[in-house]
Amino acid sequence: MRSLILLFLLGCAVAGYSQNADLPTDFLSKDFHQDRRQKLRESMPANSVAVFFANATRNRANDVDYVYHQDPDFFYLTGYKEPDAVLFVFKDKQTAPNAEKYDEILFVQPRNAMREMWTGRRLGEDGTKSTLGFQQAFNNSEFKRYNVDFSKFSPILFFDFKNDVRDNPRDSSDLYDLIGQFKGKVAYADKNATTLKVEPQKNNLDTKSLAGLMANLRGVKTKEEVEMVKKAVQISCVGHVEVMKALKPGMSEREIQGIQEFVFKKYQAEDLGYPSIVGAGHNGCILHYIDNYKPSVTSKELVLMDIGAEFHGYSADITRTIPVSGKFSPEQKQIYELVLKAQEEAMKICKPGTPMRQLTEVCREVVNKGLVELGIIKSVDEKHLYFPHGVCHHIGLDVHDRGGANLEVNNTVTIEPGVYIPDNAACDKKWWGIAVRIEDDYLITKDGYEHLSVMAPRTVKDIEEMMKQSSVFDNYSLPDLNKK
Ligand code: GLY
Ligand code: MN
Ligand code: MN
Repeated sequence: MRSLILLFLLGCAVAGYSQNADLPTDFLSKDFHQDRRQKLRESMPANSVAVFFANATRNRANDVDYVYHQDPDFFYLTGYKEPDAVLFVFKDKQTAPNAEKYDEILFVQPRNAMREMWTGRRLGEDGTKSTLGFQQAFNNSEFKRYNVDFSKFSPILFFDFKNDVRDNPRDSSDLYDLIGQFKGKVAYADKNATTLKVEPQKNNLDTKSLAGLMANLRGVKTKEEVEMVKKAVQISCVGHVEVMKALKPGMSEREIQGIQEFVFKKYQAEDLGYPSIVGAGHNGCILHYIDNYKPSVTSKELVLMDIGAEFHGYSADITRTIPVSGKFSPEQKQIYELVLKAQEEAMKICKPGTPMRQLTEVCREVVNKGLVELGIIKSVDEKHLYFPHGVCHHIGLDVHDRGGANLEVNNTVTIEPGVYIPDNAACDKKWWGIAVRIEDDYLITKDGYEHLSVMAPRTVKDIEEMMKQSSVFDNYSLPDLNKK
């Protein structure tokens, strides 16, 4: 009976795995990931090896884990979306015991009928070879026996460990074990260990250089990546537009979040680039406000929405600030137009060669001058917290993506000035509770930029016009749970 059940489970898992027709067909191709590994190899120093570990599985509560998200470097180089894996990219060809030559090898979690029935399909070593194009792919249980002599490489490039990975006692090849086995193989000395279990640190270990190599690669997007970012941005723009049309006094911050996130799902975005920020009135002054608890937004307030979809791994990052009433008050309009002016000035210098910090400096200059003119601060040199952040970062597989400090062709970046005036600020109280951020996404081109998020209205006039439009959400109703 037992073996019959196992056979049945195995059959289900294999059948499940072959249902590829259920998957989208527009993922990045295996050629993309293969090419990225080759580009990394070309940028690596002589006689080196680069090592990447998959992201850890994180426990949420009791027997429920957080939704798994692959480490962006690991995904970029492999396309593999599962945990408990390790990748080696070698500068030079290595020789396998069977005399085969190889310069990359991936250890992945094995197929397991029972586990796949509970937690989903796995590629396994065969699926990794056929789907992701690896010639050398093995089950992670093989890593223990993988006996390349690591002392011959210099450097061994990897990201240092944060010692925050849990052991699953039922799995002797999970990430915790892979890291432990790797440390043993390369004689890594644990800084935090109370007793030194391994030899003293070898000087061929390099935990610093990989960040620069990966930033050089990931900062400059390929054509396929640009398409992914554009798709994430387009989806996010529709989310913002739909809220502009649907917003009414009495909606909750979470309902506004829900409209945006419904749109993302409708367009097959798997995830959010970051937790959605929806802050009404003074809640908008909390830069990363993700509580979204306010039950009822009021017609006197602005709503600041910093929300971006993640599509096939790539993230948008867009902020729109809109008046609940559909019309900006005179004070809201003055602050809004100041922030917009700052963004427009930064856009004028948004081109290859410009240091990103210069965009922040330009915005700061405009905002400080404007705050003086409005009487909110006394001099342009006054230290204040009304605009406490930078305005430009790369976007991609991370919302704050790897990349260089100066703009280059095919970077994808944000420009996001803001002004935040909390209650009880040292200025006339007519300004209190006004928080405005405007954040757009751009592709850097040879001559300047392509404004990717242009579809989401940005000027006072265009926002007010859009807010007059009817919405698909206008006439829906759900049962009142408080009604007896
Ligand atoms: N949403 C995070 C940021 O704007 O950087
Ligand atoms: Mn941003
Ligand atoms: Mn943002």
